[in-house]
Amino acid sequence: MLPSTSPSYFTAALLLVGKTVAHSQRRYIDNSSGTPETVIPGASSYNGLNLVPQMGWNNWNAFHCDVSEDLLLSTAQSMIDLGLRDLGYNHLVLDDCWSIGRNSSGYLVADYVKFPSGMASIADRLHSMGYKFGMYSSAGVFTCGKYPGSLGYEQKDADLWASWGVDYLKYDNCFNQGQSGTPKLSFDRYNIMSQALNATGREIVYSMCNWGNDDPFDWAYTIANSGRMSGDIYDSFNRPDARCPCTSAIGCAWPGFHCSVMNILNKMAAITSRTMSGYFNDMDMLEVGNGGQTDSEYVVHFSMWAINSSPLLIGTNIPTLSAANLAILSNPAIIALNQDASAGAAVRKYQYLVDPDETGEGEIALWTRTLDNGDTVIALLNAANTTMIMNATMEDIFFDQATSGAYTTPPQLLATWDIYDLWANRMPEEEAAAIINGTAATIGFNSTSTTRYNATATSYAEGLANNNTALMGVKVGEIAPSGTFSAEVVRHSVGVYRLRAQAGIQMRKRDEL
Ligand SMILES: *[C@@H]1O[C@H](CO)[C@@H](O)[C@H](O)[C@H]1NC(C)=O
Ligand SMILES: *[C@@H]1O[C@H](CO)[C@@H](O)[C@H](O)[C@H]1NC(C)=O
Ligand SMILES: *[C@@H]1O[C@H](CO)[C@@H](O)[C@H](O)[C@H]1NC(C)=O
Ligand SMILES: *[C@@H]1O[C@H](CO)[C@@H](O)[C@H](O)[C@H]1NC(C)=O
Ligand SMILES: *[C@@H]1O[C@H](CO)[C@@H](O)[C@H](O)[C@H]1NC(C)=O
Ligand SMILES: *[C@@H]1O[C@H](CO)[C@@H](O)[C@H](O)[C@H]1NC(C)=O
Ligand SMILES: *[C@@H]1O[C@H](CO)[C@@H](O)[C@H](O)[C@H]1NC(C)=O
Ligand SMILES: *[C@@H]1O[C@H](CO)[C@@H](O)[C@H](O)[C@H]1NC(C)=O
Repeated sequence: MLPSTSPSYFTAALLLVGKTVAHSQRRYIDNSSGTPETVIPGASSYNGLNLVPQMGWNNWNAFHCDVSEDLLLSTAQSMIDLGLRDLGYNHLVLDDCWSIGRNSSGYLVADYVKFPSGMASIADRLHSMGYKFGMYSSAGVFTCGKYPGSLGYEQKDADLWASWGVDYLKYDNCFNQGQSGTPKLSFDRYNIMSQALNATGREIVYSMCNWGNDDPFDWAYTIANSGRMSGDIYDSFNRPDARCPCTSAIGCAWPGFHCSVMNILNKMAAITSRTMSGYFNDMDMLEVGNGGQTDSEYVVHFSMWAINSSPLLIGTNIPTLSAANLAILSNPAIIALNQDASAGAAVRKYQYLVDPDETGEGEIALWTRTLDNGDTVIALLNAANTTMIMNATMEDIFFDQATSGAYTTPPQLLATWDIYDLWANRMPEEEAAAIINGTAATIGFNSTSTTRYNATATSYAEGLANNNTALMGVKVGEIAPSGTFSAEVVRHSVGVYRLRAQAGIQMRKRDEL
């Protein structure tokens, strides 16, 4: 153990101060303290919204065009009953197939059979239940389901949604009249809606869905709050499909659909630096609950979406959620990574294809991410077909710090880190089943709960600052300077660990001086 006066800890304190400013990307001068904060124009959310990834539910993956007022409102209630709204899943997003056309004044008309109360009334109901209401359209003449699109009608449509009380727009890319193929064409087309939403004066999160076409991760952060970076997901762990031909996000001319979890995940590796507070690379809606993957594969899907700051939109039929799948979607220690103020994506530090003769297929990989409070998360991913002892050395984990141009050993490599397993407190199936059948004594939350969390009452940041037991998992070991952390990971699974420096106390004390 190094003494608190060690020069390396002093360096660490300075690094932490610098990091705090950069990561929170503050745009305003705080006059109350008399000390101006750094102002980085345009460095954060373009409209001030979505500083951490949006969470919620979208009907598409499970219901496609089978939408209705009853589906939205009953799902909203089920999510409250299961504790999901209060874990942060608070956007209810209606996808395609909700309109019947335009009236003679050019305004969209909602389907009054599917939505008899009208959209404004539904928005009111959802707001009173504590939700934001999400709407869908396409930057084309039709939506993907061949309903009227918004191309050429951007301001009318934005005004109508704002008048209904809409808080969120998912904006698709079908039937775009060939207005794509260069970043400029796509930017201009999506920017019209961005400006139209802004002109309404209503705060509306803008979720671009152009499937990664024309590299939106390179230009969309000045006009949108998230952007899909791949063709559509389907409920498969790693099955290749000819309809999702790209293996790289960059320059993918034909994003397609039927993209597996592993296909989308590995497209993230190259664009990791293009995720930021206010603009998230959207890996597409979750398939957890839809039945196409094993339990551990869904754990991989959920964990890797979370640590990469993808929006987390549940895409299944909530009332038929199994206890096991509720337990996955309800892991607050994993959600806390997603909602971390650092708002960054993870870095894939290594990826090895393992011997096909011995294991069938697949890769093993190490992903890491630095969090807002100085903790580091590591994910040991085994996508191969047999159980592996997986290893992460200090050099693997802190490679970036070691090559960041410092002339001295980075403090991270000198510290000893406590290791917390973030899946160790997974909610037991009996508990999840009791929540589902309504017999849980209470969806009670208290300071010693290890499985449940109420983010409506206590933000994830506050919970972490207080070492809330539901957010910290279980301590399973330590890693010392020059050390290696090893864990057994079964096939198609992932171990996710939060590392916290034992030197953290000294770092924070320095911070406060
Ligand atoms: C068209 O719809 C808009 C928005 O609902 C409404 O204000 C307008 O009166 C309608 N026009 C006609 C001709 O029905
Ligand atoms: C509109 O954009 C401006 C500048 O980009 C921003 O300051 C403002 O908050 C936005 N307003 C809304 C309602 O999004
Ligand atoms: C993967 O392992 C499973 C058993 O766990 C086996 O049934 C399957 O054939 C293996 N796949 C390959 C491609 O070897
Ligand atoms: C991890 O290290 C152990 C011990 O050195 C070794 O047996 C194992 O093969 C390593 N795992 C991998 C995937 O290389
Ligand atoms: C509810 O689920 C719990 C846990 O599985 C079980 O013990 C209990 O019998 C169930 N009650 C009802 C009424 O289904
Ligand atoms: C907190 O909740 C757990 C169940 O989640 C319960 O076992 C424990 O007794 C509760 N503690 C207090 C202080 O209420
Ligand atoms: C979570 O906390 C909020 C605010 O205190 C409260 O309204 C809500 O009922 C709580 N949720 C649960 C499931 O206990
Ligand atoms: C949280 O835990 C860390 C050690 O991991 C400790 O330094 C800190 O004081 C704790 N914070 C609170 C509020 O208990």
